[in-house]
Amino acid sequence: TTPPEPLILTANPPDSHVLVIKLNRPRVLNALSTALVDLLLSALKSADADPDIGAIVITGNEKAFAAGADIKELASLSFPSIYIQDYLRGVSEGIPSFKKPVIAAVNGHALGGGFELALACDTIFASTNAQFGLPEVKLGTIPGAGGTQRLVRAIGKAKAMHMILTGDTMSSTEALNAGLIAKVYPPEQLLDAAINADSLAKTMASYSRPIVAMAKEAVLQADQLSLSDGIRLERSLYYSTFTTADFTEGTTAFLQKRTPSWKNA
Ligand code: CAA
Repeated sequence: TTPPEPLILTANPPDSHVLVIKLNRPRVLNALSTALVDLLLSALKSADADPDIGAIVITGNEKAFAAGADIKELASLSFPSIYIQDYLRGVSEGIPSFKKPVIAAVNGHALGGGFELALACDTIFASTNAQFGLPEVKLGTIPGAGGTQRLVRAIGKAKAMHMILTGDTMSSTEALNAGLIAKVYPPEQLLDAAINADSLAKTMASYSRPIVAMAKEAVLQADQLSLSDGIRLERSLYYSTFTTADFTEGTTAFLQKRTPSWKNA
């Protein structure tokens, strides 16, 4: 008998300093089983600690990024068990806690927990065939991995409420116009573009790690803090950059008209 296929596949393209994590349950449109989510989170944790990696891209296949939580598994879960195990908390709260940029590259269906996974990432790149939706209402439940909160912040209350109460999907054109996603590519170009093109993951991975982490922290706090508290946090992180070797290196390199050589310090 052949061994079961791994639930995720990872790749580290040469010289990219980018880790690509591919969700790999194609027969069920990458439905997010607990086992898959656990593997995804542990791959992210290792990449976050790996000095060779500067950015992470999560992707699926041409048909689906992920069509949601695994409904077969959901149907067998009880309230006490999901409450005790903090079901999907690793998606809603774990992913934003990583220091390195995490990018979702979305082809095809990004539904329910799959869409919430993309929303928990730092930015979303999508292909022209991407479809985003929160169809939980059709199953007699509601989004449970951050969707009700992050979609409102991403596209505003009216559009988010409409999607969540109807289960209707949004195309990548609409998503781009709504500010939900950063870039759109043809399906066959999406992954390469997410890594290499137009200043994407590889570019993020080429800058100073602590400086990128500080920029990410400041942006993520915009959802959490009042404007004045957010501006205070930004100022204190900004001032902190002046204590780093990489601030000295970046400014000196500019003045000497050369490429900076980051120390990650
Ligand atoms: N969980 C488990 N299996 C799933 C799945 C899911 N979320 N989505 C698709 N599959 C399975 C199907 O059951 C089917 O398996 P079989 O071949 O064994 O029947 C296989 O994947 C292919 O799917 P379809 O035949 O349905 O493919 P399609 O192209 O006709 O339709 C689709 C695609 C519209 C995405 C449809 O599969 C669908 O509606 N999927 C469910 C989407 C959904 O409701 N997601 C929300 C889940 S709940 C959630 O995520 C909770 C939360 O907030 C945390």
